[in-house]
Amino acid sequence: MAGGPPAAEPFGWHGSLHNSLHNGRMRRSIPPTHPAAGSCVVWWAAAGEPAAPTAPPSLLDSTERQRWGTFWQAADRQRYAVGVVLTRLVVGAALGQRPEAVVIDRRCGWCERPHGRPVVAGGPAVSVSHAGGLVGVAIGPPADIGLCVGLDVEPVGATAHVEEVAADLLSSAEHDALAGVQDRPAAVLRTWVRKEAALKAIGRGLADDPRELTVSISAATVERWPAHQGTRRLVDLRARSGYVASLALLAGPDGQPALDGLDVQERDGDTVLRVVGPPLGGS
Ligand SMILES: CC(C)(COP(=O)(O)OP(=O)(O)OC[C@H]1O[C@@H](n2cnc3c(N)ncnc32)[C@H](O)[C@@H]1OP(=O)(O)O)[C@@H](O)C(=O)NCCC(=O)NCCS
Repeated sequence: MAGGPPAAEPFGWHGSLHNSLHNGRMRRSIPPTHPAAGSCVVWWAAAGEPAAPTAPPSLLDSTERQRWGTFWQAADRQRYAVGVVLTRLVVGAALGQRPEAVVIDRRCGWCERPHGRPVVAGGPAVSVSHAGGLVGVAIGPPADIGLCVGLDVEPVGATAHVEEVAADLLSSAEHDALAGVQDRPAAVLRTWVRKEAALKAIGRGLADDPRELTVSISAATVERWPAHQGTRRLVDLRARSGYVASLALLAGPDGQPALDGLDVQERDGDTVLRVVGPPLGGS
């Protein structure tokens, strides 16, 4: 479990972020108390009400606006928009850039369309996950180039199709370990988010056969993963009530950057989003 409950006040420098946004400029220096300086931070925010917005939030760039317009469901547009805006705010703050100036490459490795893993050139590792009414954005320390992060969150109700999930996604070793487990739906869901976090951290998601990866049923550890040669760490997250989430951290075969000493924090992204105001600073 990651240390401590989500903090009520995410930024000691929240006021300066607010002022910078409203003055149209972002401070370039980051106070030493910045939570991302030596930590991996997972920001959680409510997706909010998808009140049939007619325009995407102004912080989205042209590619993101285009993608926003491709979602049929207002709830999907809203989850996507919250993920983008929260990513821009926290990565921008970590880099000392204005949120709209952060360059995020979301090109899919297979088809080049902008629905892939978010990559910030020269910036921290980023991973986004949304489910139900919750959006999470994980960012690694800006200095730890080479670190990969993967975040996955699922609502507890996702266990409705638990046997389908188990059949499609779990390795034979995981099936064996699950035999006789008391709360099978909860165990499958926890196993699933650990696996999906790892598969997102490596950047291939479900393009890789998830049955080739085995995680522990009882602890946040990878037991077998031939596709990944480096060091790795899984962290079960507290997230929010009604959700199950895990974070995966991957380093290179040389063990760099070191993962064990990395502090993992969960923080309140709702407070961060408040600086742009409802509806997410829409244009
Ligand atoms: C990544 C993946 C597992 C997401 O699954 P999910 O549970 O539906 O969704 P989550 O909310 O947890 O994650 C979605 C986020 O994952 C990220 N993502 C997309 N592809 C990713 C990848 N290959 N690796 C890591 N992260 C990825 C994006 O940030 C996305 O957020 P966005 O839609 O707001 O841009 C799934 O989309 C996948 O396996 N994609 C890769 C394989 C694939 O099908 N590619 C398409 C070929 S054209």
